[in-house]
Amino acid sequence: MEIGAPRERLLETVFDGLDAAVYVADVHNDAILFANRAFQTLHRFDPVGRALRSAAVPLPERGDYQLDPRGLSIADVPCELFDGELLQPRTGCWYHIREQAMRWVDGGIVRLGIATDITDRKEMAELVRQQQERLSSTARLIVMGEMASMLAHEINQPLSAIANYCSGCVARLEAGAGAEAVLPAMKKASAQAERAGKIIRRIREFVKKSEPRRAPVQVAAILEDALGFAEIDAHRLNIRLVVEVAATLPDVHADRIMIEQVVINLVRNGFDAMKNTVGDDRVLVVRARQSGVDAVEVAVIDRGHGISAEDRERLFTPFFTTKQEGMGIGLNICRSIIEFHDSSLIVGDNPEGGTMFAFTLPTLPAEGVIGE
Ligand SMILES: Nc1ncnc2c1ncn2[C@@H]1O[C@H](COP(=O)(O)OP(=O)(O)O)[C@@H](O)[C@H]1O
Ligand SMILES: [Mg+2]
Repeated sequence: MEIGAPRERLLETVFDGLDAAVYVADVHNDAILFANRAFQTLHRFDPVGRALRSAAVPLPERGDYQLDPRGLSIADVPCELFDGELLQPRTGCWYHIREQAMRWVDGGIVRLGIATDITDRKEMAELVRQQQERLSSTARLIVMGEMASMLAHEINQPLSAIANYCSGCVARLEAGAGAEAVLPAMKKASAQAERAGKIIRRIREFVKKSEPRRAPVQVAAILEDALGFAEIDAHRLNIRLVVEVAATLPDVHADRIMIEQVVINLVRNGFDAMKNTVGDDRVLVVRARQSGVDAVEVAVIDRGHGISAEDRERLFTPFFTTKQEGMGIGLNICRSIIEFHDSSLIVGDNPEGGTMFAFTLPTLPAEGVIGE
C-alpha cells in the first residue's frame, strides 16, 4: 500500500475493508499509485509500480472512453470517465467499473476507479435468460402439438369434401353426363383443395418461425382467418357464429398466428361448453372493439354451461380438463400468449348465461419492442 503514513492508517483500513476494488493510476504513464486490498485479491498481483493496463480496466486505445483520459488537462478535472461493465477474458469474471479523473496529491491527473465483481449477478441473469428461452420453446412445442392435432382434424374436412365431390363427378360421368353437369362439383372440389393448401401453409408458417414476432395487424384479419377454421365446426354443430367487429379499429401490435391460435382455442372451448345448449341459444359471439385509447379488446362469449367457482381457480392450470378427450392445455397456452403481448386473459360470466373470455391487444408497440 502506498498510503503508509500513520495519520492515513485509518483511511487505509477503510479502503482495505471494502469489497470493491479501488485503484488510482496516473492518466499519462498508467502507473498504479494506489490500490486497496480487494484490488490485489481480485487481480492476484501486487499492484505497486505496475501498469494499470494489466488489470481488468477500461483502456483508452480500445475505445472504452468517450473522453480519452490521456488528453485531459487540470482544467478538465474532476470529471466522470467511465461507468460500465467489463469482462476479464483471462478469468471470465465480470466487473462493474466506475472511473473518475481527478487531481492527485502531487498535482498530476489520475484515474480513480472502483471495480465491483458482478460475475454472480451476470451468471444469474444468463441462467434466467436460458430458462426463459427453454420455457418459451417448450410452450412452442406444446402449441405446435395442439396445432398439429387441430390441423389433422381440420384438414380432414376439405379432404372428405373433395372425395365426395369427386366420387359424385365420377358417378355422373359414368352415367354419361356432359361437362356442364360435373363442372360445379369440380369447382367446389378445387376450392376445398385450396382450403387444404391454406391449412398446410399455415402450419409451415408457424413451424418456420423461430420466435414469436409482433407486427402491426388488423384484428379483423386475425378473426377472419381464425374463424375460417371454426366455421365448419359451427355449421356441423348447428351453432350460430356471430362476429361483431367495430368499424375502423386501429392496427394492433401482435403475433398474428399466435393470436389466431388463442381465438381458435377459445371458440372451440365455447363450442364444447354449448353441447347441451338448445335452440336459438346455440350462439357464440366473437366481439372486437376499442378499449381505451391504446388497445383493442377481443371477447369470445358463449351460452354454455358456465364455469363453477371451484373450476375457475384451476382453469389455467396445465392439464386441467373436465372433458373426456380434453388435453387441458389450451387455456394455459392462451394465457402465455396473451401475457407475451403484455396483456392478460380474463374470464367472466356471460350475463345471459355462459362464459366470456376476453383479452386486449396493444395498438402501439410497447417500448423497446421492435416489430417485423
Ligand atoms: N367457455 C368455457 N365454458 C365453460 N368451461 C370452460 C370454457 N373454456 C374452458 N372451460 C373449462 O376449462 C377447462 C380447460 O380448458 P382448456 O385448457 O382449453 O382444455 P380442454 O379444452 O382440453 O379441456 C375445460 O375442460 C373446461 O372445463
Ligand atoms: Mg380447449
